[in-house]
Amino acid sequence: MHSVEVFRDIQAEATEWRRYLHQNPELEYRLQNTSSFVAGKLASFGINRIETGIAETGIVAVIQGASGDGPTIGLRADMDALPILEASNKPWTSENEGKMHACGHDGHTAMLLGAAKYLAATRNFKGTVALIFQPAEEAGRGAQRMVQDGIMDRYDISQVFGMHNMPGMSIGTFGIRDGSIMAALDEFDIIVRGRGGHAAAPHMTIDPVVVGAQIVLALQTLVSRNTNPTEALVVSVTRFNASQAYNVIPDTVELGGTVRTLSPVLRDFAEQQIKACARGIANGFGAEIEFSHRRLEPLTFNHTEQTRIASAAARILVGNDDLNDTIPPLMGSEDFAYMLQARPGAFIFAGNGSSAGLHNAAYDFDDEALPYGIGYWVNLVESTLAA
Ligand code: NI
Repeated sequence: MHSVEVFRDIQAEATEWRRYLHQNPELEYRLQNTSSFVAGKLASFGINRIETGIAETGIVAVIQGASGDGPTIGLRADMDALPILEASNKPWTSENEGKMHACGHDGHTAMLLGAAKYLAATRNFKGTVALIFQPAEEAGRGAQRMVQDGIMDRYDISQVFGMHNMPGMSIGTFGIRDGSIMAALDEFDIIVRGRGGHAAAPHMTIDPVVVGAQIVLALQTLVSRNTNPTEALVVSVTRFNASQAYNVIPDTVELGGTVRTLSPVLRDFAEQQIKACARGIANGFGAEIEFSHRRLEPLTFNHTEQTRIASAAARILVGNDDLNDTIPPLMGSEDFAYMLQARPGAFIFAGNGSSAGLHNAAYDFDDEALPYGIGYWVNLVESTLAA
């Protein structure tokens, strides 16, 4: 188990990889260049079991420890960028206009590559490491597809770990918590059917705009009046499409929005209550609704034992003061949740300093964070698979 100084040697090289990836961002499953870059580096480290083309452009690479048989643990990095026009003004700014590594997945990939290089050279562990490089975290549920592709069984992975950088947390700090760390993500659509007509004769209509407005307000009370104040629920109506004209009351309006929850009970509650509340209000005004609801991402739920292991690995790297093991959960979602449904594991945040926020056009991964991410992965492997 090491402090961060051990990984300074790899930092310069990992910085070059990170900046190359940043300059050449690709989206969703279409990561041909990224994937072949990663596979090429892995092969150059002397890793000889590399499976490419999983879920189109995903990769699993296997490193065997030098100290005999043991379990296999999975370490996951995401590789995809976002459809954003970059405004970072860095020398390594995106060369693919309209595509940008605005979530630091370039850094995540470089950190796991750095760990791969170190682990392949030292192999100071007993058992096997499966390095998982996944496509389509931002859109397309790449983690789910890799799980459906059978990687957990095929590689006999018994525990799985993930990491994400976090702007606003100092470089060299880590944050984690036991249990729910990121929210489940659902979307809903409500079509309100009234009866349209001339805007000068509202009494001849059932105005779905007014009904829709009542629904938007009423849904706020699911959070403020129906949910325990110590629990987290987000219900945001983000779409409201009505007439295009000034003098027409439309037949229908279409509402849509997002729901974020940290518990399965509240998730079920929100789905039922949004529908019941919208329907009750519409019926009260003589209108009807059509309701649809989609569960998009599961809760990212850290398992107790793996949270303890992850915390210990970070603590040895940076010391007790720079690990917060009770950070508040985030209401965003993360498709690593699918891997945590398949196997016990833990997801941790690593500080990205004072950079712009995630998904911001001015964001850039901070290369000073690289040795911390690399060190975390190595400590995690050497402690979980202690020789
Ligand atoms: Ni991300």
